[in-house]
Amino acid sequence: MSAPVAVVTGGAGAMGTAIATVLLGEGYRVALLDRRDAEEAAHRLARAHEGRVLGVAADVSDEGSVRAAIERVDATWGRVDALVNNAGVEPQHSVEAGELETWQTTLDVNLTGAMLMIKHCIPLWRRLGAGRVVSVGSRVWLGGGSTASYSASKAGLVGMTRAACRELGPLGVTANVVAPSFVRTPFNAVKGDADHIEDYAGRFAAASPLGTLVEPVDVAHAVAFLLSDRARAITGETLHVAAGTQLAPAIT
Ligand SMILES: NC(=O)c1ccc[n+]([C@@H]2O[C@H](COP(=O)([O-])OP(=O)(O)OC[C@H]3O[C@@H](n4cnc5c(N)ncnc54)[C@H](O)[C@@H]3O)[C@@H](O)[C@H]2O)c1
Repeated sequence: MSAPVAVVTGGAGAMGTAIATVLLGEGYRVALLDRRDAEEAAHRLARAHEGRVLGVAADVSDEGSVRAAIERVDATWGRVDALVNNAGVEPQHSVEAGELETWQTTLDVNLTGAMLMIKHCIPLWRRLGAGRVVSVGSRVWLGGGSTASYSASKAGLVGMTRAACRELGPLGVTANVVAPSFVRTPFNAVKGDADHIEDYAGRFAAASPLGTLVEPVDVAHAVAFLLSDRARAITGETLHVAAGTQLAPAIT
């Protein structure tokens, strides 16, 4: 049997690279979809995994771009076994200021993008008779996030997954969410300067019963588990990879 194929959106980012690296280690072929640096990221990973990495420039919030990206993966490898919806943005805004454009962009990328990716993978899963989706949410879906649009988009991912898994189940496809807490990646740079981020990280470590922060590889291992046959009976679930901070009150 040929190696399974995983598509990882936001694949050039910190978490995307960690997820791709773990999946490559498990024998997958991996397509990295990103709106920037997809080919460069693929090139870096291909040094150790020649012929098993593909970089595809794509904007998940644009349906034409999503369709073209999935067609490219299909044309290259002829299948998609697993989809990891990992692309995400968190532009800062307040509800009072409104800033509808910011609100809309966040929902377009984090939520609509995930739905569009699932939509365009469905024909391939029908052909295969199986499939897997893991979407990277966030602990903030429970409440206490710093931006309303981001929290809404991540809560929406949970709701969308719990509904979509009913539609996908008869196709042999599971759909789940992995919800990390703070992870030290460039993603958080929008929240403030280095000192602010370190204080923020410290508050997360203090709120963790384990006294630790989550690393990208922790998220990657949870994703790999939910994509594996060991998780064949798990669908519609949200797995917190949050070092226990999902039990803590709001951390801001
Ligand atoms: N870092 C954290 O603290 C944290 C915590 C919880 C959840 N998350 C989630 O983890 C995921 C990955 O975050 P990260 O920390 O690796 O951040 P990152 O900024 O390193 O990676 C995000 C990637 O998404 C890509 N992207 C953004 N918009 C896109 C679009 N329209 N189309 C295609 N690609 C797009 C970016 O180019 C980037 O490469 C995000 O969904 C984020 O919400 C992050």
